[in-house]
Amino acid sequence: MIETLQTQLKSASKSERASLLVDYLKAHGNEHYEEDVTQYQHAVQAAYLGVEADAGDELIVAALLHDIGHILADDPLEANNPTVKNDFHEVLAANYLKDFFPAAVLEPIRLHVPAKRYICTVDSLYYDKLSLASQKSFHLQGGKMESTEQADFESNPHYTNAVQLRKWDDLAKDVTKEVPDIAYYQARIEKVLL
Ligand SMILES: [Fe+2]
Repeated sequence: MIETLQTQLKSASKSERASLLVDYLKAHGNEHYEEDVTQYQHAVQAAYLGVEADAGDELIVAALLHDIGHILADDPLEANNPTVKNDFHEVLAANYLKDFFPAAVLEPIRLHVPAKRYICTVDSLYYDKLSLASQKSFHLQGGKMESTEQADFESNPHYTNAVQLRKWDDLAKDVTKEVPDIAYYQARIEKVLL
């Protein structure tokens, strides 16, 4: 029987876990993310924007894995996993990976959708920089934040990292950009795994 990624991660060593995650994204990231780039290209571009910004390993790994929830939600092996079926992609990813990574990785992933709402609330020019698909989902995700939501978001110790990740997320859609293969991140993943 083929095991789900989560089951395989549970019985793996740290270095095996890093390989499993790298292989999973490589094997399952061929779906198109929005109009042009694939999920795989989107992930490695987001992570490399983190490298270029000299970010910490946790945030670079968060950028690499931030949309794994979309891939898990489309994985037929996960059809019976209630977490995967019943949650939004950012929440399910953070829950799915919670036994394997610290909050510094999980929280920016969990917050990357609210972070778009937050940035558009505090920066009136940001909405126009979003892709059409991202503008559309912004409205479906609740649009601008109320002041109580904004205060709540800012009370999370990881919110500035979530905002940073979100900005890379919105830029990681360049069909012409060449970036290193996902293997480049294997040691970083292993380093930040619990
Ligand atoms: Fe994304």
